[in-house]
Amino acid sequence: MVYLDNNATTPLDPAVIEKMAWFMGGHFGNPSSLYPIGREVKNLINEARAHVAAAVGAAKASIYFTGSGTESDNQAILGVIDALPDKREFVTTTIEHPAVSQTAAYLEGKGYKVTYVPVDATGTIDLDALRSAVTPQTALVSVMHANNEIGTIQPIEDVVRIAREQGALVHTDAVQSFGKIPFRADDLGVDLLTVSAHKIYGPKGAGALYVRKGTPLRPFIHGGHQERGLRAGTENTIGIIGFGEAARILPLHFEADSARLRRLAGRLKDGLEAGVPKIHFNGHPVNRIPTTLSYAFLGLESEAILLSLAAQGIYVSTGSACSEESEDVSPVLRAIGLRPEFARSTVRMSLGRFNTDDDVTEILRVLPEVVDKLRKISPWDPEEF
Ligand SMILES: Cc1ncc(COP(=O)(O)O)c(C=O)c1O
Repeated sequence: MVYLDNNATTPLDPAVIEKMAWFMGGHFGNPSSLYPIGREVKNLINEARAHVAAAVGAAKASIYFTGSGTESDNQAILGVIDALPDKREFVTTTIEHPAVSQTAAYLEGKGYKVTYVPVDATGTIDLDALRSAVTPQTALVSVMHANNEIGTIQPIEDVVRIAREQGALVHTDAVQSFGKIPFRADDLGVDLLTVSAHKIYGPKGAGALYVRKGTPLRPFIHGGHQERGLRAGTENTIGIIGFGEAARILPLHFEADSARLRRLAGRLKDGLEAGVPKIHFNGHPVNRIPTTLSYAFLGLESEAILLSLAAQGIYVSTGSACSEESEDVSPVLRAIGLRPEFARSTVRMSLGRFNTDDDVTEILRVLPEVVDKLRKISPWDPEEF
């Protein structure tokens, strides 16, 4: 198997599997219980919190565990909106993950004013449009750190500066940048920041929300006092312990992973551009997550490419995994101004810790053949585009 869909999810690191197995084998106590087997689990959760905090670049007290990146995004946005009832405006962008864009749509349905700030052809936010969108009535600005489909990195420090001029709070969805580019939540200057375990070789179903001290925030799940009253419900202890281990080992791998993966992705990019005619690169040439490669294969349907590659054990994605079942063109690709026929032919390849030179060699061998074969039976002539 050649797995090139690490933006959708990553395999568990063996160290994470080992830690979770150890935990599952002997720690069933409820962390809210006051007797020793409960306290022990609570202590392990707090150890995991310290590891996630260190990896995110924040104090331990500013990290709250949630059930996913999606939940963290919902909690951040709905929690601020609920805490600031006098402010009825929310500002975001046209390229957010559905966890943010659908929450924005929900707010619109509730009568809030939502402004979607456009991006340019590289997927970078238009800062002048942002400046016009934020008003003293804006409760929150939510701009993702790095895009899941094309990898473009946003100038979050500039976003924070502009939002602050009008007294607005700032949230960033850092699910795709976490572990891939170095940042410190405290230094980015945001009030809230979302991360997710399963994009950093941890388990699915575990997320975290960074909350800067003093940020007005109301819970949106009501019940017990877990997570200091922000997130009710008995903790996903196994997931949290795995998340903590994945975060603990991130810095141990970071230098070597980044250099190696940058080289592998560069090899893949150069190989594709030299070996496959009529392809179009999507995203920012420089300001992007280097391991995310998005290309339109002119004249083809992306699903045909995906399935042909899958038949040979190579796994890639069409746009974003979250929109895989939707017939629509990806809103991200639409937002960067890509023609619908280009968008429908777009394939995303995303590399991760366990990819090797052999993986790149294999896809560079198979993909040109697949494209050539499909173009021969395609009703569209790539020359037409
Ligand atoms: C940018 C971004 N935000 C949020 C999410 C959602 O995270 P989770 O899968 O943990 O709900 C994803 C996952 O694909 C993502 O890429």
